[in-house]
Amino acid sequence: MRRLLPDPAGEVDLESEYIVDPDSAWHVRASFISSADGAVTLDGRSGGLGNAADKRVFGLARDLADVILVGAGTARAEAYRASRPTGARLERRRRHGLPDAPLMAVVSERLQLDLDSDLFPTDEPRTVVITSGASPPDIRAAVAEHAEVLVHGDDTVDLTAAVAALRRRGLRRVHCEGGPRLFAGLVAAGLVDELCLTLAPLLTGPGAERIVTGAPWPAPAYGVLRHVLEDENYLFLRYDLKRAALM
Ligand SMILES: NC(=O)c1ccc[n+]([C@@H]2O[C@H](COP(=O)([O-])OP(=O)(O)OC[C@H]3O[C@@H](n4cnc5c(N)ncnc54)[C@H](OP(=O)(O)O)[C@@H]3O)[C@@H](O)[C@H]2O)c1
Repeated sequence: MRRLLPDPAGEVDLESEYIVDPDSAWHVRASFISSADGAVTLDGRSGGLGNAADKRVFGLARDLADVILVGAGTARAEAYRASRPTGARLERRRRHGLPDAPLMAVVSERLQLDLDSDLFPTDEPRTVVITSGASPPDIRAAVAEHAEVLVHGDDTVDLTAAVAALRRRGLRRVHCEGGPRLFAGLVAAGLVDELCLTLAPLLTGPGAERIVTGAPWPAPAYGVLRHVLEDENYLFLRYDLKRAALM
């Protein structure tokens, strides 16, 4: 993979390209892949958009995180499993002083989750489900048999309180893997520090979602470009975002 910006280089060390500032008390990174015409899915999933380099970058971002934060829509569409790194990836986590496995945290209002899936392992760390006081109490009780349930917010999930709760546990490097609804909510609340966006060299045509969906924002969020990498016509853009609430 080569670097186009800031200083062109033939082959880069990916780990140093994506390292999280060790001094940051708290860092929320979001990762997405989008086609050149703005689609986040091909045939309903993100996988068809990516290449091997995108998988490497995504895996690396996971490896550098204390917690993986994901919306229930993505967990359902992409058949999410809990991450249990082994081999070189486990070794990388240990080198960076991270726990052997990242905590999985799923945001859900309705709690329509497949509790028998590999997203809810019986070993530690148990998956955390973040919901609001409006979620059905009987389903919440059932979920609590398979996961740790955190309730933040009365009518809808209070993302600021949820992220603060993760932070209080010492989970300071958050990797948000979308999807568009969760990401839009986090950016609107001023909770995202960084966006890693892979731009795939594909036009998928009309129909798919963008990387954000939900209620419109009153103002745009601005990013500062940290780097641009390239591999097989795929662009890998790393933006610092301003941590300011838009709503
Ligand atoms: N290209 C990419 O990089 C990429 C990345 C991720 C996802 N995707 C794609 O995006 C699609 C899913 O989109 P999506 O917008 O449904 O994804 P999502 O944000 O993962 O899921 C939305 C669901 O998550 C819960 N949720 C999110 N934000 C919430 C909030 N603030 N408060 C309460 N609940 C919240 C709700 O769950 P409940 O419905 O359970 O209440 C909501 O229906 C899939 O097709 C997936 O493949 C693409």
